[in-house]
Amino acid sequence: MNKKLYALMAAPLLFAACNTPEAPAPTAQNETPVVESQEVVVEEKIAAPAADNGLVKYIDKPIIIEQGMLHINGFMGTLKPTLVSALKEDPTYVTAMGVCSAIAMDMTNSYNATTTDTKVRRTALKYRNPKNQPDATDVKVMEQLQGTVDFKPVAIDAGDHYRVYKPLQMEKPCLICHGDLDEMKPEVVKMIKTNYPKDMATGFIEGEFRGVTVAEIQK
Ligand code: HEC
Repeated sequence: MNKKLYALMAAPLLFAACNTPEAPAPTAQNETPVVESQEVVVEEKIAAPAADNGLVKYIDKPIIIEQGMLHINGFMGTLKPTLVSALKEDPTYVTAMGVCSAIAMDMTNSYNATTTDTKVRRTALKYRNPKNQPDATDVKVMEQLQGTVDFKPVAIDAGDHYRVYKPLQMEKPCLICHGDLDEMKPEVVKMIKTNYPKDMATGFIEGEFRGVTVAEIQK
């Protein structure tokens, strides 16, 4: 296939890959007053069974969710231009893998360097990058979120800070790097095995809960 054409096709795909196309949260997208964001019903499904499980204290504070989502969307939005330009140089999945892994961490660090009271990161139960390993609270929250159908964010009170968790959904393009090993390109599989020998982040199917982007907001 024509290389340029391919690059054009791959760009949005890779953007999607590292940037979660699901992201736009109505609550944080515009400067909606709190009134509207109250539609984010946190308690309804998630909090009820887990509200008091010893570790995780779910809260129903639209303003916190809104604040967290602003950072989560802001963070995700910084990935796009860098990825797209990297892709233009060598639009193969393998390069994409490298780009994805190098950039995701870099972007996380540089985004966090610009904020004072909020830190963002990504994590998952079945994670690839050991640097994205969840802590005990993350695990509890994600065990609840695994059953999510609306992929809406939830917030918790974690003592000296709040955490907003935005669930990420497996989309078709994600399967290139997180799908069934037998169906993935051998080059990609090889690269995963080399770079992430303890990778757990394959075998997902489309539509499934993949992990979260977390915003930690100091109180
Ligand atoms: C080009 C390959 C590629 C594609 C496509 C891809 N990822 Fe990843 N993903 C990676 C790599 C490499 C890492 C580990 C490095 C990092 O980002 O920290 C990773 C890490 C992650 C993480 C952080 C937790 C962990 O496992 O370390 C999440 C969450 C994630 N991917 C979700 C997605 C979603 C959702 C999609 C689709 C919208 C997607 N990925 C598509 C390569 C890819």
